[in-house]
This record gives sequence, structure tokens and C-alpha cells, in this order.
Amino acid sequence: MALDASTIIARLAELPDRNRACGDIEAIFFETGGTREFDTEADRAAFRERWLTRYLAHFPNDAFVALATDGAVAGYLVGCLEDPARNALFSDISYFGGLAHLTQRFPAHLHINLTARYRSQGIGAQLIEAFAAHAARAGAPGMHVVTGEGARNNRFYLACGFEHLETADWNGNAIAFLGRLLASPEGQPRLPHLPLPDALG
Ligand SMILES: CC(C)(COP(=O)(O)OP(=O)(O)OC[C@H]1O[C@@H](n2cnc3c(N)ncnc32)[C@H](O)[C@@H]1OP(=O)(O)O)[C@@H](O)C(=O)NCCC(=O)NCCS
Repeated sequence: MALDASTIIARLAELPDRNRACGDIEAIFFETGGTREFDTEADRAAFRERWLTRYLAHFPNDAFVALATDGAVAGYLVGCLEDPARNALFSDISYFGGLAHLTQRFPAHLHINLTARYRSQGIGAQLIEAFAAHAARAGAPGMHVVTGEGARNNRFYLACGFEHLETADWNGNAIAFLGRLLASPEGQPRLPHLPLPDALG
């Protein structure tokens, strides 16, 4: 995999022209949605709100972009550091309920997309590492993604240090939960909260 030196990773919140960046992000979001068609404009807006806009609105400090030399967004990562199974903002995403035993240990979650011409150059991995460092600094013990079971991107997440932890059914589709523990600021992976053994004697 050739590393791409012509893009830089930046925090969305620190860009001087966030409106332009958000326009680029939305275009990439719908581009990666492929040929998906919507019955109504309201359906399209609801889809965008669920997987993109709520992150930009509620968690702007957790969003990262890869910027091309002309300043255009080549790819983005939006996410949230809080456990989505225990946050009402995500109550419309029904798979989180069944994954709550895992989200507690891997609460930070993300959505990442690159425009086609910038894929397979290592940019996605750089965005993941920027989010991982940010989440670890904020004290998150782990992070996760939920994606299609067996999708090509599964290999990408495994290469980025995620582990395939569970397969679930969601609306008749197989989905995969992939989690990665995060190092504490001292450099040690955070251990899950295990019950303390009973004191002897
Ligand atoms: C998945 C994605 C973010 C990875 O970023 P990237 O910079 O291309 O990834 P890297 O260069 O660090 O790693 C290359 C790996 O990315 C994945 N990848 C590359 N192109 C991809 C594509 N069109 N669709 C899905 N995964 C892809 C592959 O796993 C690839 O490894 P492979 O060539 O051995 O299959 C990016 O390719 C992308 O946006 N793909 C389309 C949308 C998508 O699948 N988003 C994730 C939704 S959960």
C-alpha cells in the first residue's frame, strides 16, 4: 500500500472554511452510498441525518478530514466518543441495543468514507489513527465500527487493529461489530472493568 503524501489530516473544527468542507463531506457521503435511491426528499434527508449530519451537529470536535492539496476534502471520519447504546441520540439505530455488552468496552464509534480516487493509498488508516489518538486522549477505553459482514472494508479495519468480535442480524442483513482497545495516555491498553475477586479469608 503506497502512502499518500499529498493529503493532510485535519480536525474539521479547526478548518477556516468549515462550510465548504461540510459540502464536500456530504458529496462524499452520497457518493459512497452508491446508486441508492430514495422515494422522497424526506427519506434522503433522514438517511443523511442518521449516518452523517447528527455527528457534525452534535460531535463536531470528533470529526476529521483528509485534505487534498487544493483544499478539497478527500475523505472524512465522523464519530462519537460516548457509548451509543446508552445515548438516546442513537435510539433509532436498533442494532446498538443488541451490542450493548460490547459498546461498553468499545464506546467510541465512527463512520469513514473516502472519495474514490483517494482510496487504497493509506489515507483511511491515517484518519483512523487520528481518531484513535483523540479518543484515547479523551479517556475512551476502546472504539468500534459496525459494518456489513464480509464487506471489503472488513479487511481495512482488521489491518487498522480492529478485531472482529460479533456478527449480528439487522433487518435481514448480517452486520459485523469490530472493536479495537485504545491505549491509555500512559501507553498501556485500558483493561476492561472486571469484577474484583472476592477477598480471601
Ligand atoms: C474503507 C476506506 C475508508 C479505507 O480507506 P483507504 O484509504 O482506502 O484504506 P487504506 O489505503 O488504508 O487500506 C486499503 C484497504 O481499504 C479497503 N478498501 C479500499 N477500497 C475500498 C472500497 N472501494 N470499498 C471498501 N473498502 C475498500 C480495502 O480493505 C483495502 O485493502 P485491500 O486492497 O487489501 O482490499 C475507503 O476505501 C472507503 O471509503 N471505501 C468506500 C466506503 C466504505 O467502505 N466506507 C466504510 C464504511 S463502514
